[in-house]
Amino acid sequence: MCSTTFTARVLATAIPLCWCVALLTASATTPVIPLTPAQQRQFESGRMLFDMTCAACHGFDGQGREGLGANLVTSKYVQAPPAVLVRILTNGKQGSVGVMPALMGQFSDSQFANVLTYVRRAWGHTASAVTTGEVLRSRQSIVRTGPWTDRELSAFLTDKRRDPASVPPR
Ligand code: HEC
Repeated sequence: MCSTTFTARVLATAIPLCWCVALLTASATTPVIPLTPAQQRQFESGRMLFDMTCAACHGFDGQGREGLGANLVTSKYVQAPPAVLVRILTNGKQGSVGVMPALMGQFSDSQFANVLTYVRRAWGHTASAVTTGEVLRSRQSIVRTGPWTDRELSAFLTDKRRDPASVPPR
């Protein structure tokens, strides 16, 4: 009788505790939205394009190469709104690592979407896939030619209402 009461008490304490731990764990991890089969195909095409075009400077592992390309595993831009990435690919970027050339005109909107889908899901990243429509809309709103700088792009990250396309060309 005594041991039954004891067991009941232990259970009464343990069950709510388990719930608490389970709830805390669930809220700490944001669920990763799986890619659809079509997005998975985008990812695979994007990987080929990345390996052929971007890896020379950024490395196949995305960790960057000194003086040649920034680290895309730790970059704050990779999982930012795709509009920021479209700007980097379209006009290039200049900063402490070096200069990334503008890739505008070399790739179609769907190729940009594929390579960005790859970059945003590779190396542990869990950001959304990018559609051709998103690339088209972002690209059409860009009215400059020079490479972007960290100052301009960071402003876009902290204030979502401020579109970097509105920054006049240098
Ligand atoms: C000729 C070399 C070169 C090529 C090719 C190149 N990049 Fe870059 N990329 C750079 C450099 C250099 C930077 C960093 C510029 C700076 O110092 O701010 C950069 C920056 C970036 C950034 C921003 C990262 C950050 O935190 O600054 C992204 C995203 C990016 N590149 C993606 C790509 C993708 C995707 C491709 C292929 C389609 C590509 N790059 C091709 C050289 C290159």
